Amino acid sequence: MSQHILLRHRDIPHLDRLEVYQQHGGFEAFRKAVTSLQPTEVIQVVKDSGLRGRGGAGFPTGLKWSFCPNTIWPHYVVANADESEPGTFKDREIMESNPFQFLEGLMIAAFAIQANTAYIYLRGEYWHIGKLLDQKIAELEAAGLLGEGLFGTNYSLRLYTHMGAGAYICGEETALLESLEGKLGQPRLRPPFPAVAGLYARPTVINNVETLANVPPIIQNGAAWYRDFGTDKSPGVKIFSLSGHVNRPGNYELPLGTTFRELIYNYGGGIPEGRNIKAIMSAGASSTLIMADERALDTPMDYESLVGLGASLGSASVIVLDETVNMAWLAQKTTHFFKHESCGKCTPCREGTYWMTHILDRIVAGKAAEADVELLQAVAGQMQGKCLCALGEFSILPVLSSIQKFRSDYLEKVATPSLEVQS
Ligand code: NAI
Repeated sequence: MSQHILLRHRDIPHLDRLEVYQQHGGFEAFRKAVTSLQPTEVIQVVKDSGLRGRGGAGFPTGLKWSFCPNTIWPHYVVANADESEPGTFKDREIMESNPFQFLEGLMIAAFAIQANTAYIYLRGEYWHIGKLLDQKIAELEAAGLLGEGLFGTNYSLRLYTHMGAGAYICGEETALLESLEGKLGQPRLRPPFPAVAGLYARPTVINNVETLANVPPIIQNGAAWYRDFGTDKSPGVKIFSLSGHVNRPGNYELPLGTTFRELIYNYGGGIPEGRNIKAIMSAGASSTLIMADERALDTPMDYESLVGLGASLGSASVIVLDETVNMAWLAQKTTHFFKHESCGKCTPCREGTYWMTHILDRIVAGKAAEADVELLQAVAGQMQGKCLCALGEFSILPVLSSIQKFRSDYLEKVATPSLEVQS
């Protein structure tokens, strides 16, 4: 896009400075919300805009905000900045280079649910961003944009950063809350959802960084303006983190509904050395592998269309795999990641990821029989629908889809088909 909505720092130099951000309309949306809109009106604009959660699930943002019951107080907002999905690096760019737009979105969300305290939970590896945001928060307090009695009203707001300690599972919203409360970061059973019983069992809205960064321009320009971008059911823009076998990897802010072909070939410059594309992962390691045929390449990247490919958009971390990649090898890599990151709370995930890595190691080392592929499929199948949270459920997606769509890659690795299945 020629003009960015989220990655505005690419158009406006030094947008990470408060005075520059304010010169370009910064904090006008927050001021407008606090001084001239009712919280319910703010929620309605976000609902009407059709904004959906950019962390991956695509849940309607305004609807989530409206779930907070007005009978239980206090309310909290938590920004999920635990960006950990392999291949996802969009929130990092927003926070590093356009931090005030994200903070303003968080502040508007807090006003909308009448929270006086909001937290930013950052992955441990983003410690430098935590320090940067602390500075920005101090600047906002000094400028009277955060604190008590904002703009002469009786609304008060404080923001705090909180560093994670390097666990992928803490991006799962309930594990994040446990960690924020000072406990071991393991998921809670849902329901109740955090919007009803979240931080300290109080109503809590948890939104991804990119989701929040969309909010100020929506409040400023209106829902109809936002709906000019994207599709009817997936309105707006999305940052696609493009990586893998492409000539120009990076973050691309594009309207939802842009096709894979446009992203990979027009923006990403195609596959290195003119090799053929073989598969696409659309949601990082948590992806069903998409066979990169003509139909897939022409599929619009939005929350609905990918379902037709048996996949999902997730956080839109598009990893491109060319013809040199063996998909059994790929499944081995993703499974090792999930095994390492499994929190161990539920048995299907803890044991399942462990056994899948063992079987995949054997297959990739050329020490397996064809029956091991069936065994792998059976283990993954037994995990399906039985894990406490999305981590375990997602861990089987690359495994099952690689067996289903790229079985020949497994057969290539199976050295001695007549071998008995080893225990
Ligand atoms: P989910 O669909 O269960 O929930 C999405 C959001 O909607 C949550 O905030 C949940 O509380 C809320 N919600 C859903 N139903 C609700 C109800 N009935 N009442 C109130 N609130 C409700 O998805 P989940 O498990 O939270 O996230 C999965 C996504 O996370 C996947 O799409 C995956 O790709 C993505 N992901 C992103 C990562 C990243 O680094 N950005 C890392 C790992 C996964």
